[in-house]
Amino acid sequence: MDLFQPEPADLRSLRENAPVHRDERTGLWLVSRYDDVRAVLADPHRFHPDNALTAVVPIPRPVLRVLARAGFSLPPTLANNGTDTHADLRRLVSRFLTPARVAALGPRIAELTAERLDGLSGRADLHAAVARDLPAIVLLEVMGIRDVDVDALKAWSTASLELFWGDVTLERQHELARPAAAFHQWLTSRIKAADPGGDDLFGALRAQGVPIRDAAGLCYFLLIAGQETTTQLLSAAFHAVLREDGLWSRLGEPGFAAACVEEVLRRDPPVSTWRRIAAEPVTLSGVDVPAGAPLLLMLAGSGSDPDVFAEPERFCPARPNARRHLAFGFGRHFCLGAGLARLEAEVVLRETARRFPDLHLTSTGPPPMLGLLSFRAPLSVEVEPGEPAGPARLRSTASGRR
Ligand code: HEM
Repeated sequence: MDLFQPEPADLRSLRENAPVHRDERTGLWLVSRYDDVRAVLADPHRFHPDNALTAVVPIPRPVLRVLARAGFSLPPTLANNGTDTHADLRRLVSRFLTPARVAALGPRIAELTAERLDGLSGRADLHAAVARDLPAIVLLEVMGIRDVDVDALKAWSTASLELFWGDVTLERQHELARPAAAFHQWLTSRIKAADPGGDDLFGALRAQGVPIRDAAGLCYFLLIAGQETTTQLLSAAFHAVLREDGLWSRLGEPGFAAACVEEVLRRDPPVSTWRRIAAEPVTLSGVDVPAGAPLLLMLAGSGSDPDVFAEPERFCPARPNARRHLAFGFGRHFCLGAGLARLEAEVVLRETARRFPDLHLTSTGPPPMLGLLSFRAPLSVEVEPGEPAGPARLRSTASGRR
């Protein structure tokens, strides 16, 4: 099995035959059953998050020097922080993502979607046209961060994802280290210049007295995790819904788009794996795991576990327990952006279907996929949009919205 491009059959075989299995090449212990994955995430004392952001292919000394020269470091802050400082930092970030702040973004997400759809004519790629930059713009706005070159942010963040989670050669590591270092340097200078009395994330970190190095590490993770994952979710959702007969035309029904998003998160989660370290010897599914073992939690495998989800390969938006999936993790480190990601995907799906009711995929074959250890989603969603809905049709479908 290719850990970077696993197929559903690979995950099934792991769950059935080797639910806790040490991968020789990476040294990671693959954990694939729902109950085991949830138990690990739920127990921060026996399973530490310290390796969450460790490069999958170790970064060799010459490449580390490129990063070090830029002052690059990722100290424990959020996802990789098992220490006492986690709770305060998490509280600081969560102030920007309260349910009320997130809910208020609905109209802005619809507006950004509409602007992107204005440019759609003839054959198009929904990944490039809609999914690519919208989540970054929304994230920057909710964090109050202004004056950002969004194309540069996307280039920095896709390079960073590949550097830390890709199956990369030494040459590629060299190429990727430069944009990763540039991103970190940019963050550091923006944080240093921030006004502690300001209303943005950088100012809030200064006001709380978070050391610059920690603040830069936190923002590096947040500005990547808070938008690349949602881009991936949008592309996965477009693709999943368009592949099934009869779903696109139902996206205006109350609750239907949200239910589709939940099914995508369960069956095709963009964050397909996440890591932990066993702090002591443990037994999972009858297998003894030594202290210090790095675990790879197969979030995608857990969402397709037939012991929890009936007929797991079927895309079934009416599934009563769809929200039990672990696509956003579980417990102390549960994703702070889950509500925002869900809202973005729901609004984007619904608005796109409303505007282009006859839109369809140009091919029924599998799309090219992003294949990183922890991130998996279509890299393109090629469609034929068809005619946009006229004002009368738009009005009648709008009245069916929530
Ligand atoms: C589809 C989109 C997303 C997915 C699938 C996703 C998934 C995840 C996962 C699996 C974790 C680790 C949870 C754990 O260790 O238990 C996580 C953590 C986190 N996510 Fe997300 N995420 C998404 C979007 C976002 C967004 C939009 C934001 C911010 C606006 C965000 C911010 C965070 C933060 C700050 C953490 C670390 C929380 C902590 O350690 O306390 N994520 N996410």
